[in-house]
Amino acid sequence: MTVTLRKLQQCRNEGRRFSVLTAYDACFARLESAAGIDVILVGDSLGMVVQGKDSTVPVTVEEMAYHTACVHRGNQGSLIMADMPFLSAATPERALDAAGQLMQAGANLVKLEGAGWLEETVSLLKRNGVPVCVHLGLTPQAVNAFSGYRVQGRDQEQAESMIRDARALEQAGADLVLLECVPREVTARLVDSVGVPVIGIGAGPECHGQVLVVHDMLGLTDGKPPRFVKDFMAETGADVPTALRAYDEAVKSGHFPADEHCF
Ligand code: KIV
Repeated sequence: MTVTLRKLQQCRNEGRRFSVLTAYDACFARLESAAGIDVILVGDSLGMVVQGKDSTVPVTVEEMAYHTACVHRGNQGSLIMADMPFLSAATPERALDAAGQLMQAGANLVKLEGAGWLEETVSLLKRNGVPVCVHLGLTPQAVNAFSGYRVQGRDQEQAESMIRDARALEQAGADLVLLECVPREVTARLVDSVGVPVIGIGAGPECHGQVLVVHDMLGLTDGKPPRFVKDFMAETGADVPTALRAYDEAVKSGHFPADEHCF
């Protein structure tokens, strides 16, 4: 069955959860859609997990378009969301050009990291037929500005401004919100403040969808994984398709994330 934005909105409206997982190539796209994953995120995390770089900052639009096309060829019905890389949305015009390349490579929507200042860009993309997910909270492309990967929204002022931004971006036309590393109390308030589906990573079970980096949930990442990661390969002790199905079921049944994965 083909997953659409309308289906994700129905999930939210009917209290059903949906699963999101990164993929960067045709093989993983095929395995993930066969496992029932609703949304495949072609994340710019590929800069770290595929290219071996230190951050997502060096990833280019051309690289994102190449990996989006690979995922598109393997996909069998999941919705494909592609990341707009570092500085590709610095101006609305640049964003339109980059989003055009990603949509023509096979994306069904794009994801933009940022905050309220993206309002004009979101409206322009929407007017041109590009659905948008806005990524708030910890936005890894801003790792240098944040001085590291830190939980966002711990203080009252930051939390209020994140909630205001989510509302404003929804008004501008955003179809989805993705929240990364946000305390679950803040997530709960934000989820109640917007009408669109909210996807979380380290943002608690209050979100309508959950996302992980596929290498993390298969236990392939070097070093200590972040708190919000669960290794489904270790848990199932089986093969990749079994681990992917276990993740999908755990998200949809509400068993993932558990308290130990939250802030
Ligand atoms: O690039 C990525 O994989 C992401 C997720 C961490 C949400 O943006």
